[in-house]
Amino acid sequence: MGIIIAPSILAADFANLQKEVGMINESDADWIHVDVMDGVFVPNISFGMPVIKAIKKHAAKPLDVHLMIVQPERYIESFREAGADILTVHVEASTHLHRTIQQIKAAGMKAGVAVNPHTPVSSLQDVLLDIDLVCLMSVNPGFGGQKFIENTYRKVSELKKLISANDAKAVIEIDGGVNQENAGPLIQAGAGVLVAGNFVFSAQNPKQVIQRLKSI
Ligand code: DX5
Ligand code: ZN
Repeated sequence: MGIIIAPSILAADFANLQKEVGMINESDADWIHVDVMDGVFVPNISFGMPVIKAIKKHAAKPLDVHLMIVQPERYIESFREAGADILTVHVEASTHLHRTIQQIKAAGMKAGVAVNPHTPVSSLQDVLLDIDLVCLMSVNPGFGGQKFIENTYRKVSELKKLISANDAKAVIEIDGGVNQENAGPLIQAGAGVLVAGNFVFSAQNPKQVIQRLKSI
């Protein structure tokens, strides 16, 4: 299977969300990445359920919802109802992560776990067989348009080994600062999903940028 491309709606024009979602629908993108920030886990606040519902109404592709919020377990059902297909929580934000993962799956979604740049991939060892996706943060979460952290390459390779050694099925997603230069090496190292915000939405021709990423 080829690389999965997930444009991040955080970098879209919020006053034209229907048009932006329509662009993603028509493009070669596979998922729509949706960043939820609470102003506590991360310094920034983005949007919540009403906006996700509005996106869902027009989306022809799965919603990959990335929760950058504390105690994500409180809102699992609400995000399902809002339209999430994949729900990713941070290992740093959920005290009873194993239970949270089971709750996400019981609600009918695919379960993802995200790790901050400082968090070792070994922290996932004991949930690896339970999850569908690992989101490696390649920037400190909270804002779009930041510089890619180079140490991510090493983490992807290490995680890839851990996944193989455990015969796990989780796909590796890279989130933050993805562009045409780092996409190739990331895929080489074992990435299966690339999130791209600014690189897609600040381009003259976003559909073409998505197509190029998809065909690397
Ligand atoms: C960062 C978010 C990312 C962000 C990526 O906190 O989780 O998904 O939208 O944006 P770019 O690609 O611009 O770094
Ligand atoms: Zn994200």
